[in-house]
Amino acid sequence: VTTRHYKFNIQMKNVARLCHTKSMVTVNGKFPGPPVMAREGDRLLIEVVNHVPHNISIHWHGIRQLRSGWADGPAYITQCPIQTGQSYVYNFTVVGQRGTLWWHAHISWLRSTLYGPLIILPKQGTPYPFAKPYKEVPIIFGEWFNSDPEAIISQALQTGGGPNVSDAYTINGLPGPLYNCSAKDTFKLKVKPGRTYLLRLINAALNDELFFSIANHTLKIVEADAIYVKPFETETLVITPGQTTNVLLKTKSHFPNASFFMTARPYVTGQGTFDNSTVAGILKYEIPSNIPHMKKLQLFKPSLPALNDTNFVTNFTNKLRSLATPQFPANVPKNVNKRFFFTIGLGTSPCDKKNQTCQGPNGTKFSASVNNVSFIQPNTALLQAHYFGQSNGLYSPDFPINPLHWFNYTGNPPNNTMVSNGTKLMVLPFNTSVELIMQDTSILGAESHPLHLHGFNFFVVGQGFGNFDPNKDPNNFNLVDPIERNTVGVPSGGWVAIRFLADNPGVWFMHCHLEVHTSWGLKMAWLVLDGKLPNQKLLPPPADLPKC
Ligand code: C2O
Repeated sequence: VTTRHYKFNIQMKNVARLCHTKSMVTVNGKFPGPPVMAREGDRLLIEVVNHVPHNISIHWHGIRQLRSGWADGPAYITQCPIQTGQSYVYNFTVVGQRGTLWWHAHISWLRSTLYGPLIILPKQGTPYPFAKPYKEVPIIFGEWFNSDPEAIISQALQTGGGPNVSDAYTINGLPGPLYNCSAKDTFKLKVKPGRTYLLRLINAALNDELFFSIANHTLKIVEADAIYVKPFETETLVITPGQTTNVLLKTKSHFPNASFFMTARPYVTGQGTFDNSTVAGILKYEIPSNIPHMKKLQLFKPSLPALNDTNFVTNFTNKLRSLATPQFPANVPKNVNKRFFFTIGLGTSPCDKKNQTCQGPNGTKFSASVNNVSFIQPNTALLQAHYFGQSNGLYSPDFPINPLHWFNYTGNPPNNTMVSNGTKLMVLPFNTSVELIMQDTSILGAESHPLHLHGFNFFVVGQGFGNFDPNKDPNNFNLVDPIERNTVGVPSGGWVAIRFLADNPGVWFMHCHLEVHTSWGLKMAWLVLDGKLPNQKLLPPPADLPKC
């Protein structure tokens, strides 16, 4: 086993965008953060040293963390945060995975500046299931806030309102020329003609799903969430926060007398305010010195779907299928042991009018819930509490298998929009084969939610609009080549059905990857128990595991 060492010094750094300089939390002074590279089968030792006046934790988004839940990273779920002046070594082995993933802070809104690519190459000598690209380029989408995102979210939570939206989207940290005072901060992808580039796309934005396109070029989708898919071509793709997508970009065979914008802007289904701006980068053909430089290049811009183009999103996601070959099989669980039905959505909670200016509907606070339970973050880590048998009073193992309130989910909102609160876990015996229906609700208006599950990949066996029909819809489930992933968009006013095998003991967070919804409580956790055999048990905690 090859071991790869990384050191993440968490430090403040002044960064300027849009003519606005701010001090931000970074890894090693870099924004976005440095890439972590490994091969399938490698062991990673990443030492995180906290030099900033914030608690820190880092999540390796999409890494399965087989039996190594201590390295997963969500604060107060699998670990206590790394306090100022402390350090922690994330120690995990990449088992049976290869592709584009990413890492990000997993505490409060610090992931707005703490994120970077996590690239797992196939084992030495194992080719991709497509021709070797000439070059590989990570492209991370993010959001830039002129003010401090930590202040934005704490203000929003105090008043119960929606947080301020970002001031720009970014490609590899750069907003690009469509924003004021930003032309010099433009991502440029320099290419040669007649070559194939593998673009590793990552959506690290806090609160927005994004459309992406490159003018006059076609993108061939080959991988999603580090799983190879049946290749298909498209002009435009959609990517939700948390997701990754690999595309092959074939450049034109001759030097074009033009350069080309690549742009991203949001896909939005909710009612609230959002950043409707567009980030642009430039695809630039590098003209060698022996060819006379062409003057006055034409600039082509892609046209992106309308901001609320759900038809595009549905057609696109329906095309995503696992490769499902003998080498890369789709091991969809066929016999289901447990079926769950979770409602996903926004709601309200009481707001103390004496102390606060309540900005939620009718003098409430905005809240969000799963099965009407809005998750309360405990003050010590659930995984430790479980492992050391100290769970008393910290959490209850009684997450509801069905919604607490039954109503017509996508019809008129119920009279009672109040959520209930709790730190509830859904307990699963080792190797339970799970089918989970996630149903969007229209309690405060329907909205698409990118749901992310830690510790597992799952198969998306079905999806649809309206209310899930348990008598009809399962007949159409795809058990042959469904897409396998770690983050899925629950359609606005619709549902998705996923299946996974609970073969990874530990406490595993599941939440909406729209950060504002996570902050409002759209999150829950699974507790997967140890199996009987020694190699089916959670490994013991590392000695340097942070304490609360
Ligand atoms: Cu990418 Cu729990 O997060």
